[in-house]
Amino acid sequence: MLSKKLIPFEKKVWLSTPTPHPEMMKFIQKAYDDNWITCLGENVNAVEQIAAEKVGVDHAVALSCCTAALHLCVILAGERLYGRPAVGHGVLEGKRVFCSDMTFAATLNPVVYEGGIPVFIDTETASWNMDPIALERAFEHYPDVKLVVSAELYGFPGRTDEIKRVCEKHGALLIEDAAEALGATIGGKQCGSFGDYAAISYNGNKIITGSSGGCLLTNSKEDADHARKLSTQAREPAPWYQHEEIGYNYRMSNFIGGAVRGQYPHLDEHISQKKAIYERYREGLKGLPVSINPIADGTVPNYWLSALLVDRKAMCEQTRDDHTATFAPEHGKSCPTEILAAIVSINAEGRPIWKPMHLQPIYRDNGFVATVEGNDVSADIFERGCCLPSDNKMTVEQQDRIIEAVKACFE
Ligand SMILES: Cc1ncc(COP(=O)(O)O)c(C=O)c1O
Repeated sequence: MLSKKLIPFEKKVWLSTPTPHPEMMKFIQKAYDDNWITCLGENVNAVEQIAAEKVGVDHAVALSCCTAALHLCVILAGERLYGRPAVGHGVLEGKRVFCSDMTFAATLNPVVYEGGIPVFIDTETASWNMDPIALERAFEHYPDVKLVVSAELYGFPGRTDEIKRVCEKHGALLIEDAAEALGATIGGKQCGSFGDYAAISYNGNKIITGSSGGCLLTNSKEDADHARKLSTQAREPAPWYQHEEIGYNYRMSNFIGGAVRGQYPHLDEHISQKKAIYERYREGLKGLPVSINPIADGTVPNYWLSALLVDRKAMCEQTRDDHTATFAPEHGKSCPTEILAAIVSINAEGRPIWKPMHLQPIYRDNGFVATVEGNDVSADIFERGCCLPSDNKMTVEQQDRIIEAVKACFE
């Protein structure tokens, strides 16, 4: 229970902010000087080359954001599975798709853009990512499903390799949402290289950023070329504007490309800064009834966001409806609502764990497959967990004060 008065920071400590590097301006300036101020140019091409090389896939397509990349992943996978739909119809119309449950809505909203019906797969305790056992169970319930969309949470990946094996066993394609996991590995392989299609994000709070932007990743040249065509309004090669399929304006701008290009050389440096933050939390929170993000066997995270989980026995009473949260203060106990309030009170930013999709009003009627019937791991982690300030510019002194604020909640 927080009873002591904590002193706020003069300058806000954020969850995760961009880390500017001078190379960004060099590449943006070059685009300006060359007057390549458009959605193509050498920065866009360079991002595609660097992104593909980094992840170890054959092709990357640079786009305006990861959500756009995920949308094109869904279209490519959907057309491969079900053929091109008639104009005005979604490629997944009426088809069920297995999706991560505890993630940002952007992981799976593109499934719905295309008329698909997400069925949510529970989370595993050991990694906080999609549980391959729940996925296997889901195929028993819905044997016709041919597409899975799985996200890697907070830069701490789970068993995407195992998820891919389950998909292959059932003849399904995998879309890997590696938006948060750039630079993390599973069994020595980069996140973003497991899916038949994958997506990464460069939005403002990611481990490297162009302010926005994303890439679609694939080993198929044909699919990469098709994604580029779809992302630029799907013009046919003709002397006029000829259209035989629906297109989008999803290409990355050459300015954004310059920013992303200037960030890539600093990815490893950002990862080690984030790792140091995670380790300081692990040390600093020792002795409290909490744990922090689990690291699944064989994985190396990029440590993007550190998060904590309050032990069940140390939870005070917490009530949440669709819009508000309250708690009953109790000596020796706390909860995410109190911890987040304490963090806000010192002028810092935390965040609840992603609210599971099967608990969201728009998806409440969709299916949810738990690992063990009647046991909802996603809901449990959402109830007991919260993200901690993880900005790589945060000083040790600032982090110590955040740790003190968390400790004060359990007094
Ligand atoms: C898991 C996940 N998927 C998708 C996205 C969407 O990325 P973007 O903002 O680049 O569209 C994000 C981040 O915003 C994310 O965290």
